[in-house]
Amino acid sequence: MSLHQRLRAATASAHQGLEDALDWRLRVATRDGYRDLLARFHGFHAAYEPALGDALADAAFWGPRRRLPALAADLAHLGMREAEIAALPRPSAVTFSDAAAAMGALYVLEGSTLGGQVIGRHIGAVHGLADAGLAYYRAHGRQTGVMWNAFRARLDRLSGDAEAEAAALAAGTATFDALRIWLCAPEASASPRTG
Ligand code: HEM
Repeated sequence: MSLHQRLRAATASAHQGLEDALDWRLRVATRDGYRDLLARFHGFHAAYEPALGDALADAAFWGPRRRLPALAADLAHLGMREAEIAALPRPSAVTFSDAAAAMGALYVLEGSTLGGQVIGRHIGAVHGLADAGLAYYRAHGRQTGVMWNAFRARLDRLSGDAEAEAAALAAGTATFDALRIWLCAPEASASPRTG
């Protein structure tokens, strides 16, 4: 099995669990609900992206995969001020021991761009948004397949390296869990900012 196949198998139940717990159709049914969900994603990406960038140490690969600017732009479009966005709660800062661990965590965030296409189309239709306000869910847009294939190819360069595979699998499952807890906790917007 390739590392991608192993990650997919190891996180299949976590994906289903997140889909079930997220209840995304209900959460994005109102504009305020959609903004609150984006605010949660903003917190998560604010905590994870610096650590991912450091551990990957490859600006050409990582740069187009950053999604914090898109989240900030969407939140601004939905009426939040810059200072409010900067002050949004976020989980504690994380670190990755090496690039393999970062690839495992990034698997979760890059994979979310796949289902995100379906969710983005739904939100666009419900709230009358085209590009502005929908940048996070549009993500790589027409490049989604290309970006996903390039990500998988890089991931699978680690296949067969037992230590790298273990690090990626551990980080992938931990990131899925952390994301579910962060997105689904009641009242995250009222919790103190840490990290
Ligand atoms: C933030 C929440 C989510 C995360 C982190 C996430 C993560 C992922 C990951 C990692 C993959 C890649 C699977 C693979 O290796 O092939 C994926 C694929 C996918 N996800 Fe999600 N997902 C999320 C929410 C959802 C939701 C709510 C839906 C329901 C619409 C969904 C539908 C899909 C679909 C349709 C695919 C493509 C499956 C395929 O092409 O084989 N996801 N997601």
